[in-house]
Amino acid sequence: MKVLIVGSGGREHAIATSVSKSDKVDKIYCAPGNAGIGLIAECVPIKAMDFDGITDFAKKESIDLVIVGMDDPLVGGLVDILNENGIRAFGPKKNAAILEGSKAFSKELMKKYNIPTAGYETFDDADAALKYLKGSKYPVVLKADGLALGKGVLICNTYEEACDGVKTIMVDKQFGASGDRMVIEEFMTGREVSVLSFTDGRSIRIMTSAQDHKRAGDNDTGLNTGGMGTFSPSPFYTAEVDDFCKKHIYQATVDAMAAEGREFKGVIFFGLMLTPEGPRVLEYNCRFGDPEAQVVLPRMKNDIIDVMNACIDGTLGDVDLQFEDNAAVCVVLASDGYPVKYEKGLPIRGLENFEGRDGYYCFHAGTALKGDTIVTNGGRVLGVTALGSDLKQARENAYKATEWVSFDNKYMRHDIGKAIDEA
Ligand code: AMP
Ligand code: GLY
Repeated sequence: MKVLIVGSGGREHAIATSVSKSDKVDKIYCAPGNAGIGLIAECVPIKAMDFDGITDFAKKESIDLVIVGMDDPLVGGLVDILNENGIRAFGPKKNAAILEGSKAFSKELMKKYNIPTAGYETFDDADAALKYLKGSKYPVVLKADGLALGKGVLICNTYEEACDGVKTIMVDKQFGASGDRMVIEEFMTGREVSVLSFTDGRSIRIMTSAQDHKRAGDNDTGLNTGGMGTFSPSPFYTAEVDDFCKKHIYQATVDAMAAEGREFKGVIFFGLMLTPEGPRVLEYNCRFGDPEAQVVLPRMKNDIIDVMNACIDGTLGDVDLQFEDNAAVCVVLASDGYPVKYEKGLPIRGLENFEGRDGYYCFHAGTALKGDTIVTNGGRVLGVTALGSDLKQARENAYKATEWVSFDNKYMRHDIGKAIDEA
C-alpha cells in the first residue's frame, strides 16, 4: 500500500520510521517532510495546511492511507476533507480535534463528565477576567483558548503579573485569535507525565508512558519550548497511577466525546500532572506528542499500520498493543538561541554514524537539503534517540550518540532524564 504522512518534524520522522517497518507498505510519501524523512520517504513540497494540494496529491497517487501528524491540519478539518473525497485517513475529524483545539471546550467536557482536572473559569472578555483575578489564589494559570504552538499558557505569581497576562493574551493578541477566549485555571503541583493512546471512538489502548522536558535550559530554566528531550517509560507512572487513570480518565474521555456526538478516532495525548491529590489532566492533544513519539514509537511491537487501521475501522478492541520491556531517551539537538532567534542553513556533519546501528535513531526535526548537504532548518534540528535495557542505559547511549553529530551552534540540555535518578 501507499501511505502519505502529513507534517515535517521529528514526530513525523518517527511515524515514518515505524511505517517503514510494516511489510504492508510499499511506498511512503511525506508532505512536506524534511531531509531525514527524505531518506525513507518521498517528500513532496505541499504544505500541511494546503488541504486542496494534499487531497489532489492523494487522489492522483491513489494513496491508501493518509496519516496526519500535526495538530493544525487536524483542528482545521483535513481528515473530514480527505474522507469526503473518499480517501482513508488516520486522525480525528474536526469536531473531535477540538479536544486540543479549544481549551474552553476540553475543560467544559472534563467538568461535565467528572474527569479530574484543575478548577477553572472561561472568559470572553478582558474586564470580566481582570475582575475575577482580583479574588484569585496565586499562582494562577492563564491559557489562550486555541492553538498557540504550545506557548499560550502563562503562569502568573501575582495579580500584577496576571493583569499583564490578560493584556498579552486578550488585548495585544500575542497568540492571535487563540486569545479571543481565555481559561483561568487553578495552579497545580506535581510531576508531569505524557500518556499517548490509540482510540477507535469506543475502545482505547494506552501506549507506554513518557516524560517531556519543556524548558530550554538545564534544571528546567529558561523559556518554554516544543520539547527538549524525552524519556520512556516514566518511573513515576506507577501501577497505582495507571489504575486511577484507567478508572477515571482514559475511557471516560473517549466515552464523553462519543456522548457529545464527537467520536474521536486517532491518538489522544493525555498531559497528566501527578498531584498530591492524585492524577489530573493538564491538557489533551489530538495527535502524537513531539518529542514523545520519538521515544514511544521505537518501543512499540505492533505493526503501526494494523493499529491505525483498527482505529479507523472501529476494531481496536481486538488489538493487543504491546511495547518492548526496555527504555528510550531522546535528546533534542537545537540551534543555540532557540526558541527565540537562531541561524538556519548550517551544514550537519556525522549523520552517517547512525547508519546500521541498532537501537539508535537520529530523527530529523528541522533539516533541509541544500544541494547534496543536509543543513539545519529550524530551532529543533535533530532528536537523537537511543534504546537501552533500562532508563539509565538508554540515557547513557543517547548522550553518547549526541557526540556523533555536529553543526555550528549545536545546543542541547545535559539533564534529560535526570529525574530517573530520583525515582
Ligand atoms: P498545557 O499546554 O496546557 O499543557 O500547558 C503547558 C505547561 O504549563 C504544562 O506542561 C505545565 O507545565 C504548565 N501548566 C499548565 N496548566 C497548569 C496548571 N493548572 N498548573 C500548573 N502548571 C500548569
Ligand atoms: N511534547 C508536547 C507536545 O507535543 O505537545
